[in-house]
Amino acid sequence: MATNITYHPGSVDAAERTNLLQQKGVTIWLTGLSASGKSTIACALEQHLLHIHKFTYRLDGDNVRFGLNKDLGFDEKSRNENIRRIGEVSKLFADASCIAITAFISPYRTDRAVAREIHDKAGLGFVEVFVDAPLEVVEQRDPKGLYKKARAGEIKEFTGISAPYEAPEKPELHIKTNEVNVTEAVKIIIDYLIVHGYCT
Ligand code: PPS
Repeated sequence: MATNITYHPGSVDAAERTNLLQQKGVTIWLTGLSASGKSTIACALEQHLLHIHKFTYRLDGDNVRFGLNKDLGFDEKSRNENIRRIGEVSKLFADASCIAITAFISPYRTDRAVAREIHDKAGLGFVEVFVDAPLEVVEQRDPKGLYKKARAGEIKEFTGISAPYEAPEKPELHIKTNEVNVTEAVKIIIDYLIVHGYCT
């Protein structure tokens, strides 16, 4: 635990940064089962925003676990820490006026609440998007063969099979990926960003 530390504010406050860069930071937090479509939507959303010259960056569960979070596994404590760190990192991106897009299973409600609180405390927007597909659908998709391995007992604590997924109760957006395609999903998120002043 660090002691004797002092917070140093910068010379440019959040409002001035937003004004100078002509962009307000926000975090789009995608949560859902493995193979629900989080990464696909995150990639398409990032591409769309970049093509309209928005400063955006995507943080993806698999990718972040190759670096920053390579010391973490999939037990409950590790997932708590995974999401706490991503809550902090995405807040830094949002604070830098970036549209941060996170794609993590983030299965625990309390962990997502922690990520939201980190943003709330900094006066930054946090948009929880439930990327929803029924277990039988994601199991059918199984693009990485992980559900098959989990059913065979080759992967322990696999979300939806042998570890819990706590669905959001009041997400800002609820996208059912067995009912809408990727383009429609991106449009739903962009429309939200426009209505709430994060995008023109
Ligand atoms: S979490 O729960 O938010 O900490 O998980 P996350 O960091 O998003 O990582 C999920 C990706 O890790 C792979 N994987 C597993 N997922 C769930 N449970 C277990 N046990 C597991 N082991 C490996 C899997 O590829 C997940 O990627 P997605 O994109 O969600 O399919």
